[in-house]
Amino acid sequence: MSNIAEEINKRRTFAIISHPDAGKTTLTEKFLLYGGAINLAGSVKGKATARHAVSDWMEIEKERGISVTSSVLQFNYGGYCINILDTPGHQDFSEDTYRTLMAADSAVMVIDGAKGVEPQTRKLFKVCGMRGIPIFTFINKMDRDANDTFELLDEIEKELGIATCPVNWPIGCGKSFKGVYDRHKQTVITYSDTEKGTKEGETTVIPISDEAAVEAAVGTERKQVLFDEIELLDGASAEYDIDEIRRGKLTPVFFGSALTNFGVEIFLQYFLQMTTTPLARMSQGSLIDPVDNEFSAFVFKIQANMNKAHRDRIAFMRICSGKYSADMDVKHVQSGKVMRLSRPQQIMADERKILDEAYGGDIIGVFDPGIFSIGDTLCVPKADIKYEGIPTFAPEHFARVRQIDTMKRKQFVKGITQIAQEGAIQIFQEYNTGMEEIIVGVVGVLQFEVLKYRLENEYNVDIKLEPLPYEHIRWIVSSETELDKIVGTSDMKKIKDLKDRPLLLFINEWSVGMTLDRNKGLELSEFGTA
Ligand code: G4P
Repeated sequence: MSNIAEEINKRRTFAIISHPDAGKTTLTEKFLLYGGAINLAGSVKGKATARHAVSDWMEIEKERGISVTSSVLQFNYGGYCINILDTPGHQDFSEDTYRTLMAADSAVMVIDGAKGVEPQTRKLFKVCGMRGIPIFTFINKMDRDANDTFELLDEIEKELGIATCPVNWPIGCGKSFKGVYDRHKQTVITYSDTEKGTKEGETTVIPISDEAAVEAAVGTERKQVLFDEIELLDGASAEYDIDEIRRGKLTPVFFGSALTNFGVEIFLQYFLQMTTTPLARMSQGSLIDPVDNEFSAFVFKIQANMNKAHRDRIAFMRICSGKYSADMDVKHVQSGKVMRLSRPQQIMADERKILDEAYGGDIIGVFDPGIFSIGDTLCVPKADIKYEGIPTFAPEHFARVRQIDTMKRKQFVKGITQIAQEGAIQIFQEYNTGMEEIIVGVVGVLQFEVLKYRLENEYNVDIKLEPLPYEHIRWIVSSETELDKIVGTSDMKKIKDLKDRPLLLFINEWSVGMTLDRNKGLELSEFGTA
């Protein structure tokens, strides 16, 4: 095997999703610990340090305690090169999560054992479902009182519509948490509270067949419950089926406690075996194999001003095939231009490392001189590759934006346009007027706050947002239709997007239907294309 094939095949690129507070940060931190990317001393300082080191770029994240941007981490473990894509936990940023998932080959879903499926888990999971990638479940916080295990699995199956296959099974929980039973190896792995988790936490591995030893480790009562549960489980749960897992129809389930570092390495080891090598991706109707093709990548995220010390715009791209090496010429497919990617970086929160090479499966950050858009393809100049675009979500909240100091028009337009290019917001204009009136559309209302904050902090522009009552947006797809002639309902508003395409805003679904009824031949779409 060539060196490139070897490098690509050892890559595992996944996203990690959870409802806030389920333990995503803690679990990520423990993964890094196994990879040796951070040292133990750093880890035991707790979340405050980890949070800031790992994923927080923006002040607003610190203030609100939620992560609104996603970051990328890379580490090596057991011969694998692992890329973790962190996703924003808040539902208002589900579009960002969706784009991040586009760059991942699988997802790890963290669930709090005492809370089960939570609202954001549901929303994020839905987004995962749209991508159809394998999902691995880690049920966390077993050192605390947790819900009944069968009920937890039932909830995942019913609420999320995915079959579950427990790879291990918890023995008790909270104060009486004794460890897990590994169904595959048929062993009991005992738990000892290591006081916030050192790597050396004492565990013993006992074959289930050694009943006396199991009983001595977990107690008579727990042993009996475990044996009953195993029997029940073997009869009731879905069979382990790697094809179903790969198709996103079955989720392997693991139990543990990220905080005390129990079950994390077990999870990591199984996960790395079960998840896929970098997947082939669709380009113009054919699949591009990561190993058989030279360099190609697509942009899944653009972010400006991530760090006050570096006032620049970074395009994040996922390498889909081949090898990237420093200073190679690549073609930006959408513009047809051949260019040299200047100083590609691996970006780990505040830390930036210049890369000499990267391979299929990796994520790189590249300075964007303002030519990249989300969904763009880059490849070696001779290749003919164009990856499928990333759909945009229809905004559900709208507001009129006014700048408070009218003298700062230029900064205002620059700022709001740049933020829109990043895909965090969508901007529209009144139909028949110029840029004076800007209407912003967002998927989640928190994005309004982020917009206001960023304009103030990065562009020095104060704005006022005036909420508008619209909730439904429709692009006009029928070519014959003239916007002037559309007869709508009294609550309908005509606007246009930055490319001058006409759009309609409605307060409710009913008005959408009425407008379609009143205008023969009118075709509307919920999705705008980039
Ligand atoms: P998130 O990224 O999903 O939002 O969750 P995060 O890891 O920040 O964890 C949220 C809280 O849950 C933290 O407590 C963290 O210490 C705790 N936690 C995470 N995993 C476990 C676990 O396995 N067991 C228990 N008992 N707790 C866990 P906090 O009080 O908010 O922060 P801190 O002050 O303890 O750092």
